Amino acid sequence: MLLVLDREFEQIEVLADRTAHCLAFVAIHSTRLGPAFGGIRRWAYPTPDDALRDALDLARAMTFKCAMAGVPGGGGKAVIVQRPDLDRGAAYELIGRYVEMMGGRYLTGPDVGTEADDLEAVARHTRYVARPDAGAGPLAEPTALGVFAGIEATARRLGSDTVDGLTIAVQGLGAVGWRLCELLSGAGVRLIVADLQTARTERARDELGADVLSATELLLAPCDVLAPCALGGVIDLAVANALRARAIAGAANNVLATPECGARLFERGVLLAPDFVINAGALIHGALFHLEGRAPDRARIRAIGDVVGDLLDRAKAERLPPEVLAQRIAEERVAAAPPGPFMPPSRTKL
Ligand code: NAI
Repeated sequence: MLLVLDREFEQIEVLADRTAHCLAFVAIHSTRLGPAFGGIRRWAYPTPDDALRDALDLARAMTFKCAMAGVPGGGGKAVIVQRPDLDRGAAYELIGRYVEMMGGRYLTGPDVGTEADDLEAVARHTRYVARPDAGAGPLAEPTALGVFAGIEATARRLGSDTVDGLTIAVQGLGAVGWRLCELLSGAGVRLIVADLQTARTERARDELGADVLSATELLLAPCDVLAPCALGGVIDLAVANALRARAIAGAANNVLATPECGARLFERGVLLAPDFVINAGALIHGALFHLEGRAPDRARIRAIGDVVGDLLDRAKAERLPPEVLAQRIAEERVAAAPPGPFMPPSRTKL
């Protein structure tokens, strides 16, 4: 089992239930800015170490995402190791009991592999869960709107006042990618799309006039902006060396395979809107729904464009890759907060 010897994380828990054949990890990276937000991922990890590593990386990214979005919250994540004999319902109930025990220090919700039924199982045991179909509303919508605003800001740094007439390549036509394509098409963008599901690309061709390419062709297609909205890690060194987009701005988390890929893009003059800055729409929506009792207005989500634009300007002035600068700014904001973990009001009264 991977040993975490540094003191970067506030809390790391192993949840195990032999009868449910469940092994899960919960990582709380930081609550210095407020309660930890982070959904539940269920995935068939090759080893428990991989699952723990993923929980740690994702929780850290949530801290940065909150700090950059101006959300008074921090980073957490739960991962469940998927295996054929997993009792799925019992596993999610286990997470629900744990989240309730945290008393509001950690708020969870959907992520890859977690569906409405799973969240219902969590909600049987805790109120600290965001359920898109029970209050908060669909989260892909604010994510797409934030990415759209971030693309507009990026386009201005490419010298275009609007996205009208630009060519934008969207990889992945799922919940976020499809909505983004609708927004881009409505704004006069020429779309190039790819998805593993032919029905989705055919629909984009028929309804939005998009050109369709294979997933690998799309990454290297000549275009103004490449918007990865499928999986993480798609910008590896080979792609970073060969891509012909002038900028990358999309929803997919952890889009760079390694930090070197970001450095390579920077050397080549390709603008990168860091994923944890541009894809914060769902976090802002879900977190503010919880903290303020109502969903934020569209202007609050569209403000992601200002954050992306200011970051790109500062990165240019300071000659730093934008993702390196964004992480530095986020770390400074966390470090400037009062020390000590966030404790929910009911606990601080004790
Ligand atoms: P989704 O699961 O609804 O859609 C993903 C789409 O990508 C599917 O249509 C799938 O067929 C396609 N796809 C998968 N592998 C592909 C490949 N190699 N080439 C082309 N297409 C491929 O996912 P969703 O919710 O739209 O999220 C998209 C990305 O944005 C993910 O990386 C997710 O982590 C990230 N994200 C999503 C948020 C949300 O609110 N849903 C919030 C923040 C980030």
